[in-house]
Amino acid sequence: MVRVSFIGAGRIGQTIIYATLMSGAIDEAIVMDIVPNVPDRMKDELMHALSAEGINTRIIATNLIDKVENSDIILISAGKPRTANQSRVDLFMDNARIISGFAKILPSKNPNALYIMVTNPVDMMASVFMKYSGKYTISSGAQVENNRLRSFIADKLGVPVNSVNGYTGGEHGEGLSIFWDTISVNGRPFDDIAKGRLTREEVSAYVKGIAAQIIGTLGGTSWGPATTMRDVIVSIAKNEHKVMSIAPPMKVKDEIIHVSRPTVVGNPIGPSIEKSLSDEDRVALESAAEKMYSEYKELLTNFERTTS
Ligand SMILES: NC(=O)c1ccc[n+]([C@@H]2O[C@H](COP(=O)([O-])OP(=O)(O)OC[C@H]3O[C@@H](n4cnc5c(N)ncnc54)[C@H](O)[C@@H]3O)[C@@H](O)[C@H]2O)c1
Repeated sequence: MVRVSFIGAGRIGQTIIYATLMSGAIDEAIVMDIVPNVPDRMKDELMHALSAEGINTRIIATNLIDKVENSDIILISAGKPRTANQSRVDLFMDNARIISGFAKILPSKNPNALYIMVTNPVDMMASVFMKYSGKYTISSGAQVENNRLRSFIADKLGVPVNSVNGYTGGEHGEGLSIFWDTISVNGRPFDDIAKGRLTREEVSAYVKGIAAQIIGTLGGTSWGPATTMRDVIVSIAKNEHKVMSIAPPMKVKDEIIHVSRPTVVGNPIGPSIEKSLSDEDRVALESAAEKMYSEYKELLTNFERTTS
């Protein structure tokens, strides 16, 4: 029996819940949001869709965080989204307040849950949640960018998407590292096959910039990240051992931070396989981790100062 709880049923939350339930991989779902009636009406809609699919997932709808209990997995997407002109980091203070609040409530009724963070800035929010809850937390991290990377390369080179492999890592968002030596198309290295047709700069600009363009036009991202989150949940629920660029905890100096790197996603999570990266890609990962630590430490110190 797998029970997955979803905290936040806004634009991304709703799409993640829909995609996950349609996979048929979970037995029970708790849908929680603070807006009155939203979880209940979502439950109705989802039950209708499940009925069309012949899937028997049980749904519990609630506005109360302390009704979220006995979960195996808890995915958190509640909080403020950014506008096209904002960076994800601009959301730190507002969302850290919400996430640290959940961290103090959720663990007592969900002692065995594995926590997945989606709320932005996602890597830092995973660290905030883990710091205040003491519970193992992953950030969905850069797996979203793996899908952006593979789809863009496939589209530009006119090849099936499944023939493109490759990983990104470091920070979800503007500070992303692309692990160029992992990218291959039909088994051939990216630089070899892309020569004269597609540059690293074009790939990098698309992968790092497309979310802002989608937000500017459509108001927010949904299907891309939601399908990615579904894959993460299902890989854990079914112990599939898929390799994804999620961000598990990493100790850097005095803090636990979340840095994406190719990681085996099952139950339990891990291992991370950064040792198999080339020297160049590993250097990019290490410098991303250092930068992420400094940024997080500064924002966390400010947050703790304003909340103490
Ligand atoms: N990691 C990723 O790849 C990724 C992708 C898309 C969105 N996001 C992030 O996810 C978050 C949500 O984005 P969105 O587009 O769904 O925003 P949204 O405004 O549509 O939804 C946010 C939801 O959170 C709920 N909420 C707020 N405070 C709450 C609380 N205390 N308890 C319960 N529910 C609460 C709101 O009622 C709303 O339904 C943002 O931080 C966004 O940046 C991350």
